[in-house]
Amino acid sequence: MVKIIGIVGSPRIKGNTNFLVKKALESAESLDAETELINLGKMDISPCTACNICKETGECSIKDDMGSLLEKISDVQGLIIGSPVYFGNVTAQTKIFMDRSRPLRTNFSLQDVVSGAISVGASRNGGQETTCSAIHDFLLIQDAIIVGDGAPAAHYGACGVGGRIKDCENDDVGLETAKNLGKRVANLAIKLNE
Ligand SMILES: Cc1cc2nc3c(=O)[nH]c(=O)nc-3n(C[C@H](O)[C@H](O)[C@H](O)COP(=O)(O)O)c2cc1C
Repeated sequence: MVKIIGIVGSPRIKGNTNFLVKKALESAESLDAETELINLGKMDISPCTACNICKETGECSIKDDMGSLLEKISDVQGLIIGSPVYFGNVTAQTKIFMDRSRPLRTNFSLQDVVSGAISVGASRNGGQETTCSAIHDFLLIQDAIIVGDGAPAAHYGACGVGGRIKDCENDDVGLETAKNLGKRVANLAIKLNE
């Protein structure tokens, strides 16, 4: 069975990003994938200090919650990263997670992991696509395989529109693209790992 982790990069634990990532994972589960949702907002993860020890040893010198998270995500076949749009880009929490994942690049643990992006902004055209692109850039540099939400829409992944908590429950397009992204990640991960 393939394992897919969903990362939520919002400081609002029960916010819109959490809602859409959860929907994507439920849809992956319907195809028999094992899933786990991880909320960065609940974790203690400090920014990278550029000590560069990870380049020599593959280990991070900072001892916080990122250690156990790195262990978890180095053993998955699918990864979905969701972030709210903050000024047209990912949140600080999401960026810190990305930077601190550098030890995984020492031996390319995310190579061929089937991955996709989810973003939520308060405005239509508020930067959802640029935020998905920032997540895609990260995944590319980790040598993961990037997918979008697949047919029939086949765009950037899931782009939600909603400002207040629970707004995305009524966002039909965000909901549908999140579910389709979850299926697309699971289907390809299953195919590649048969
Ligand atoms: C600091 C900050 C910056 C934001 N910048 C944008 C933005 O550039 N575009 C946008 O559409 N929404 C922006 N928003 C709104 C959030 O993306 C929106 O409230 C979203 O629902 C938050 O997701 P969450 O519920 O998962 O926390 C911003 C919110 C904050 C707090």
